[in-house]
Amino acid sequence: MGNVVVVGAQWGDEGKAKITDLLSKDANFIIRYQGGCNAGHTVVVGNETFKFHLIPSGVLNKGKKCFIGSGVVIHPETFNKEINDLKARNIDLSNLKLSPLASITMPYHIDLDGASESSLNENKIGTTKKGIGPTYTDKVARVGLKVQDLYDEELSSKLDKILPLKNSILTKVYALKPYSKEEILQLCKEYAQIFKPYVCENWQETLIEAKKNGNILFEGAQGVMLDVDFGTYPYVTSSNPIAGGASTGSGLGPNVIDEVIGVFKAYITRVGEGPFVTELDNQIGKQIQTIGAEFGTTTGRARRCGWFDAVVAKYSALVSGITQIALTKIDVFDTFDEIKLCTSYRDKRNGKIYTSYPTNISLHKHLEPVYETFEGWKTDISNIKNFNDLPQNLITYLKRIEEIVGAKVSIISVGPKREQTIMLQNPFANC
Ligand code: GDP
Ligand code: IMO
Ligand code: MG
Repeated sequence: MGNVVVVGAQWGDEGKAKITDLLSKDANFIIRYQGGCNAGHTVVVGNETFKFHLIPSGVLNKGKKCFIGSGVVIHPETFNKEINDLKARNIDLSNLKLSPLASITMPYHIDLDGASESSLNENKIGTTKKGIGPTYTDKVARVGLKVQDLYDEELSSKLDKILPLKNSILTKVYALKPYSKEEILQLCKEYAQIFKPYVCENWQETLIEAKKNGNILFEGAQGVMLDVDFGTYPYVTSSNPIAGGASTGSGLGPNVIDEVIGVFKAYITRVGEGPFVTELDNQIGKQIQTIGAEFGTTTGRARRCGWFDAVVAKYSALVSGITQIALTKIDVFDTFDEIKLCTSYRDKRNGKIYTSYPTNISLHKHLEPVYETFEGWKTDISNIKNFNDLPQNLITYLKRIEEIVGAKVSIISVGPKREQTIMLQNPFANC
C-alpha cells in the first residue's frame, strides 16, 4: 500500500496517460493535480482510442474513484463535452468528483490568451490558446472564480469586482469586446448545472478516506520542463507539473507521496516555442516525428523532435524527486542504425561543458549537445513481453539512462496499447 505520482519528465506528451491508465488498475483513488484542457492524454484500449483533457486517465478502469484536484483549471464547456463523449462510449462516471477549489477558465481567459500570443509576435510562447495562463494569473491575482463560487450567494458581487478589470484589459489593451454581467451570470448558471453532479462537497472526508485506503495515484499533466518555476521560463505553462504540484494541487500533504514515476520518452519532443538543445531540425527529426506520430493531441501541431537529453533527465529527476522511470516509445527506434544520447552541453564560444542544466535560457543559443552514440537493435520490439527478450543494444541504452538519472526503469512501453508494456516492478508494490 502506498501512493504514487506519475510525472512527465520532459516537455509533456511523454505517454503519461498510458502509464496512469496501466497503474490505475492497482490504484484506489486517482487525482489529476494541475493543468487544464491544454493537456491531451491518449489511452489506447483494444481498438479504441480515448483522448482526455481534464478527466483523469484512470477513469477507464471501472469503479475507480477519480478526483479533479484544486490545482486544475477547468473549462466548463470542454469538461461537459468530455463527459458527454465518455458517456456516449458507455464509460461509467459515477465515481468522478471535482474539487470545489478548482479554478474556472472563463471565456475572457481564452480571449486574453489568444490576444496576448498575437501581441507577442515573434516572442510568442506558442500556447495551446486554451486560456491556461490567464486563468492561473487570475487565481494568483485573487480575481479568479473557483467552482464553489458558482453556488455562492456573493457571486454577483464578486463579478462586480472582477468584470470591470477584465473588460478594461479586453477593450483598452487588446481592443476586444467586453462581457456584460448578465451574460457572465447566465454562463455561470449553466456552469453550475454542468458541474453539479460532480462537485465534491465533502472533499476533506473524501481525501481522509483515500489516505486511509492507500494506493492513491496522482496524475500530472504537461512535464517538468514546462513547470512555471523550474521549466524553460517564460516558455512554460502556468502551473506546477513537478511532483510537488501533486501536493498543492490535491490537498494532500507531501508526506503521503511514496514513489514518483518519471515518464520519459526514449527521445524528446516539444510543442510550442522555447529552447531545446537536442532538437533535430533534419531528416532524423522528421523520421522520429513520422514513426512516433508526433502531432499534438490537443492542437494537432507537429511536435519538434530530438535525441534524449540526459542533462534534462538528471534535472527532472532532481526537481521532481523521481524514484522510478517509465520509459516510453522506445519502439520508435526499432529501425534506427544508431541512437544518440546527450550527456552534456558545450558552449560553442569557449568550449565550456555543462553537465547540469543551465536554467538561464538566454545561454542556450550558444550551446550544442555532446552525444554518446549507441548501436540500434534493428528488431521489432513491439510485441516483446519480457525484459530478457529485449535486444542487448536496447538494454545498453536503457542502462545508461538509468545510470545518469539515478533511478531504475520499472516500466518499459513498446507501443501505445496496454499490453505493449513490460512491467519490471509495479510501483505500488514498492511502497
Ligand atoms: P501524454 O500527454 O503524456 O499522456 O502523451 P500523449 O497522449 O499526448 O502522447 C503520447 C502518444 O504516444 C499517444 O498517441 C500514445 O498513444 C502514444 N504512445 C504511448 N506510449 C507509446 C509507446 O510506447 N510506443 C508508441 N509507439 N506510442 C506510444
Ligand atoms: P500534456 O499533458 C505538451 C505547452 C504549449 C506551450 C506551453 C504553454 O498532454 O503533456 P499553455 O497553453 O499551457 O499556456 O502553453 O506549454 N503545453 C504542452 N506541451 N503537452 C502538454 O500537455 C502541454 N500543455 C501545454 O505547447 O509551449
Ligand atoms: Mg499530451
